[in-house]
Amino acid sequence: RERAVEALTRLVRDIEDFPEPGIVFKDITPLLADPAGFGAVVEAMAAAGRDENGAVVVDKVVGMEARGFILAAPVALALGVGFAPVRKAGKLPHDTHQVDYALEYGEAVLELHRDAVAPGERVLLVDDVLATGGTAGATCDLVRRCGADPVGFAVLMELGFLDGRAALGEVPVHALQRI
Ligand code: PRP
Ligand code: MG
Repeated sequence: RERAVEALTRLVRDIEDFPEPGIVFKDITPLLADPAGFGAVVEAMAAAGRDENGAVVVDKVVGMEARGFILAAPVALALGVGFAPVRKAGKLPHDTHQVDYALEYGEAVLELHRDAVAPGERVLLVDDVLATGGTAGATCDLVRRCGADPVGFAVLMELGFLDGRAALGEVPVHALQRI
């Protein structure tokens, strides 16, 4: 975990005024390009799916399009469980559940295949950044609509001043870094 936090600090760069003036974008591409750093953060995030003895306690990992996919898929493989994608509207081909979520301006829709997680499954959510919590909160709703249980949310960076945790309710947030 210490190596993961060190890699995050060194390899995530701030891009000012992207995509809009006033926004500071957390660019994770230098981290992804560094196999040791990338491996360390994946292993540290996977710890959110294990108990204190190292036993895997989740049945599935769900990642959110697009940046969540990059982290969630290797976390799922590290845990030896399946991966399911939450996608923006209109991208998933089979029957889906849909949830509206708030964007900075307006609303958008996230979707999950109805058969992507089974009733009763324990699901770990994985994404890169927790900001307002809109994305993560909607993903919890989607998992619950399938009858499954969101049991944790692993994220690289939490923007603490936005209080995104509130959108997750009782679901524990495992953030490698709080900004
Ligand atoms: C970013 C980020 C998180 C989300 C966090 O994704 O990757 O998923 O915002 O913000 P929130 O907590 O306020 O919902 P974005 O929607 O920009 O899309 P991308 O991952 O496809 O780049
Ligand atoms: Mg995203």
